[in-house]
Order: sequence, then C-alpha cells, then structure tokens
Amino acid sequence: MKFLVINGPNLNMLGIREPGIYGEQTYAGLCKKIEDHAAKNGWEVELYQSNHEGCLVDKIQEAYGKADAIVINPGAYTHTSVALLDAVKAVQIPTVEVHISDVSKREDFRQISYIRLACAATIAGHGLDGYLEAMDLLAERLAAK
Ligand code: DQA
Repeated sequence: MKFLVINGPNLNMLGIREPGIYGEQTYAGLCKKIEDHAAKNGWEVELYQSNHEGCLVDKIQEAYGKADAIVINPGAYTHTSVALLDAVKAVQIPTVEVHISDVSKREDFRQISYIRLACAATIAGHGLDGYLEAMDLLAERLAAK
C-alpha cells in the first residue's frame, strides 16, 4: 500500500498559523504522526507540501501508476481549484479530502469544494487525526476490492 499525502498552501505554517483553528502541532509534527501511522500498518507513505497550485497538479500527475491512494488537504485551493479536481479525475487514484477544521461551520466561501467531486470521502473537523482516518478508510476500501 503506497500513500501519497498532499498538503496545500499555508499548511507548512501549522503551529504558527491560527492555532485556535488549526491547533498547536507543527507541519513536521503532522508528518511524523502520518509516518508513524503508516509504519505501524506496514504502509509506504510519501509526504508533499506546496504553496503553488501547479506544483500540486504536477505531484498528483506524477502519482499516476505509482501511488495506490491519495490523501489531500488542498487548503484554500479546495474552494477555488478546478485544476486540482481535474488532476484527481485524470489519474483515477482513490482520493480522500481532509480538512483540519470543520469547514462546514466556517465562512460561506469555504462551503464550496471542487475537489470533493472526485473524492471517495471528505473528513473535516477531526484535527490532525483526520489524515489518519483518511488513510484507514482508503486502506479498507482498497482491501475490499
Ligand atoms: C483547511 C480549510 C481551508 O478553508 C483553509 O483555506 C486551509 C485549511 C483545513 O485544513 O481546515 O488552508 O483546508
């Protein structure tokens, strides 16, 4: 099982950025949590973060034929990017969308998610544990196939 976990803009600022919303844990702490979870389950995981939409599209395209599943928190590109939606549709890799905060209880502009249309599920508002839940869900779905 090979996972690609992608984080979009400003998620490298975890721990500094609005801790009341996103918590005190740093991006490095998030990576460690994900790597530990993968190791415990015997999965491979690649972590990637970028603040640039095109780099995120490139990374999704590169996963074609390599990754079994993608976990993605596209950050603010969730609400704007048709390009990320199209990239996930293009590679046809099972993908789960994650948000640390509960976007459904936030501003109106956060209520749209383009990428959701190509995702098997959305996990929002479970903090950093949401990434692990997304991995578990994808592993279960792939094992059931
Ligand atoms: C986020 C929610 C987005 O609306 C926001 O732009 C982010 C983080 C989250 O993880 O809760 O950057 O995706």
